[in-house]
Amino acid sequence: MAFTKILFNNILHRFICKDFHEVVSSMTIIDAFLFLIVHSVDKLRIWPKLPVFLGLLYLSVRRHLHQQYNLINVGKSPCGVRFNPEDYPYRTSDGSYHDPFNEGAGSQGSFFGRNIMPVDQTDKLMKPDPMVVATKLLARTQYKDTDKQFNMIAASWIQFMIHDWIDHMENTNQQVELIAPKEVANKCPLSSFKFYPTKEFPTGFYDIQTGTKNIRTPWWDGSAIYGSNKERLQKVRTFTDGKLKISEDGLLQHDEDRIPISGDIRNSWDGVSVLQALFIKEHNAVCDAIKKELPDLNDEELYRHARLVTSAVIAKIHTIDWTVELLKTDMLLAGMRANWYGLLGKKFKNTFGHVGHALLGGLVGLRKPVNHGVPYSLTEEFTSVYRMHQLLPDSLHLRNTDVAPGPNKSPPLLKDVTMPDLIGQKGEKTLSQIGFTRQFVSMGHQACGGLELWNYPAWLRGLIPHDVDGKERHDHVDLAALEIYRDRERKVARYNQFRRALLLIPISKWEDLTEDKEVIEVLKEVYGDDVEQLDLMVGLMAEKKIKGFSISETAFIIFLLMASRRLEADRFFTSDFNEKTYTKKGFEWVNTTESLKDVLNRHYPEIPKKWINSTSAFSVWDSPPNAPNHIPLYLRLPSSN
Ligand code: HEM
Repeated sequence: MAFTKILFNNILHRFICKDFHEVVSSMTIIDAFLFLIVHSVDKLRIWPKLPVFLGLLYLSVRRHLHQQYNLINVGKSPCGVRFNPEDYPYRTSDGSYHDPFNEGAGSQGSFFGRNIMPVDQTDKLMKPDPMVVATKLLARTQYKDTDKQFNMIAASWIQFMIHDWIDHMENTNQQVELIAPKEVANKCPLSSFKFYPTKEFPTGFYDIQTGTKNIRTPWWDGSAIYGSNKERLQKVRTFTDGKLKISEDGLLQHDEDRIPISGDIRNSWDGVSVLQALFIKEHNAVCDAIKKELPDLNDEELYRHARLVTSAVIAKIHTIDWTVELLKTDMLLAGMRANWYGLLGKKFKNTFGHVGHALLGGLVGLRKPVNHGVPYSLTEEFTSVYRMHQLLPDSLHLRNTDVAPGPNKSPPLLKDVTMPDLIGQKGEKTLSQIGFTRQFVSMGHQACGGLELWNYPAWLRGLIPHDVDGKERHDHVDLAALEIYRDRERKVARYNQFRRALLLIPISKWEDLTEDKEVIEVLKEVYGDDVEQLDLMVGLMAEKKIKGFSISETAFIIFLLMASRRLEADRFFTSDFNEKTYTKKGFEWVNTTESLKDVLNRHYPEIPKKWINSTSAFSVWDSPPNAPNHIPLYLRLPSSN
């Protein structure tokens, strides 16, 4: 057998780039063969141009390979006595008891996992200087937006999700200082800044000896509105009929320090605040509906069911509405719907229930959660590819919603409000003057920033960051430079190694990354000819995008793996996604909600009716609705997009 494997590998190596010989040697014969197929398609650079059904096949083979070779466990989580999931038919406040075999997996304070082995950069933390990288390659020169594809609600939505999933614990006993080097000092808003390093913990493992911890629960459990522990949850609940606190005006309530009351309020702004308020309303409406059906349920029971339902509604909107607009191609429309409903589709699933395995019936409703032998967590690399501060503009174009709509339901412009007036505590004050409707409609009609070089907002380069409790810190930070430092500090591979480890063909020269001559010139100025030194975030922004994709192909591969994992590893989306756990009414609520527009229709029906022309609430609202396409989805070709 060993001889056959060596022979097989020798033959295989002839068709595979040298970069992958080692990993292919560690693969099973079947996986090596599957890799050969994927790699051959990659060499031809044709996967985005394949017909939908072939593209789906490519993506599902790729995802399989990543599930085998890009899920790396870091650190032990407490896994005491095996518990009976029936004793915990609800999402706990700190994310524990979600995985029947590992009570601590995905709980607050558990380790970040990895998709790629760590790359120690202790001797390269300042090479090239993060403030040089930020100034020369990231800083916004002129605002570039996403045209009609993605609006400010979409940008706020992903921040809302980040506040559900991830936040690194810091070491508050120490501070690091970055000082602007002379060559860029006059272009940096801060001549120096201080921040806390990420806290490292011993893992007890041989190969990965230290790791970092997540202070948010990485499960898709709505922690941006419920919090990631018991104390925060106590603060947001009313303890009557299962409901959460919300103001009469439909905005968040505030505590005695004027800090908003919600699950996570750190480094937030009005865009996230209105989404939190909207989903608190959704939660409270679910409580009412379930109470009507089951009047004997007490406050705690109603809260638990409503949290399950609201979290699932959020996950579903993200999967089949937000992501579909982010990756606007027929292939991804089919792929994301297949993640939720399966290839057999919604009608089939609604009639016959979950049939077959994940591909046919979807990840949601699987008989058992699947973690591919690695306890669930989100990862360092996941954090890195979600560094998307470029989505944010310099100001919000505030609209007048008290008049009749103009062409394509567009409201007239009232004035520009700068982003610094919309963030943190000041932002909450501004929001109380703007109100829910004007804030939401204005965001709907404004495109968000593009994920490109030279598009990092200047106002984030002198930002006052928050403590975990939402209070302002003393030291301002240059967030652009800090992000470059963070990836290096957390041992996240630089761009080229990142691609290699994700089985993507690396670049060998700058021209492989981009055709933009001006960009290449500055890349050479900062990194010389050494493409291996390219920082991940710079590479992600510079990469030539696939048509219809708002993110890079490199970032997309992490999405492909982790978006599926968030669903398939969670028993509340698999074995416990049923009427018994959610209640009949709650289950029906999830199954009949398809989009953010549906949620808006429930709580603010006048908004979609009067102001949304587009099909999705995540594309710019004055854009035309999607044209009907009579070709069956799986048979479409990319040109029919
Ligand atoms: C007003 C809007 C925003 C503000 C003020 C803000 C501010 C911050 C700050 C201060 C940090 C911590 C930096 C550090 O110490 O490492 C951070 C981290 C982060 N932000 Fe934002 N941000 C905003 C919007 C967004 C958006 C739209 C995204 C889009 C995905 C995003 C994604 C992230 C991610 C992925 C991290 C890293 C989290 C971690 O280290 O675990 N943020 N942000």
